[in-house]
Amino acid sequence: MTKKVRTAVLISGRGSNLAALIEACRDPKFPATIALVFSNVETAEGLKIAAAAGIPTKALSHRSFASREEFDAAIDKALADANIELICEAGFMRIHSDGFVRKWEGRMLNIHPSLLPAFKGIRVHQQAIEAGVRISGCTVHFIVPELDSGPIIAQTAVPVHPDDTAETLQARILVEEHKLYPAALKAVAEGSVRLKNGKAVFL
Ligand code: GRF
Repeated sequence: MTKKVRTAVLISGRGSNLAALIEACRDPKFPATIALVFSNVETAEGLKIAAAAGIPTKALSHRSFASREEFDAAIDKALADANIELICEAGFMRIHSDGFVRKWEGRMLNIHPSLLPAFKGIRVHQQAIEAGVRISGCTVHFIVPELDSGPIIAQTAVPVHPDDTAETLQARILVEEHKLYPAALKAVAEGSVRLKNGKAVFL
């Protein structure tokens, strides 16, 4: 049987990428299993997706903690309690403390709905439309302390049509996110890509 890397998915909302990762993990040959879904939003829709799939969930509001460091310590404890080895952030709307990022360096991924390094931060699809680009897409990267700046693992390009709105572009990119994130998680979990000297290196 394939050794399964115990993975946590961190979310703040809808959880459609979480659903795609759960689906991929159903394959007995997939090298990861989702052992915990954590959210900083107790009402996040994605928590229901996890519960329906029988995956343990934990929700803690960042507002109950005095500092970023204390919130990250609570996340870290939840991860340790579930013996987590790898983290996938999927629409998790909190920035981590440097210490947390350093601890999980090379073992923490994020998906972002643009072709990084273009259009970091929020209102990403609107940024792409306002810039007038003809191609956008999505990126899975290792997380580093600077937002949306980590070493890139995988990207998919998507056309931007002249009549696109942020909503239509988002929908087109999301379809690709749901394919890209499972593929990137597979590559990291099976050890075919890893973080080395600040770059994602394929072996
Ligand atoms: C996705 O577009 C992801 O790229 C971004 O946040 C969104 C989360 O959507 N980081 P969902 O919760 O996975 O549906």
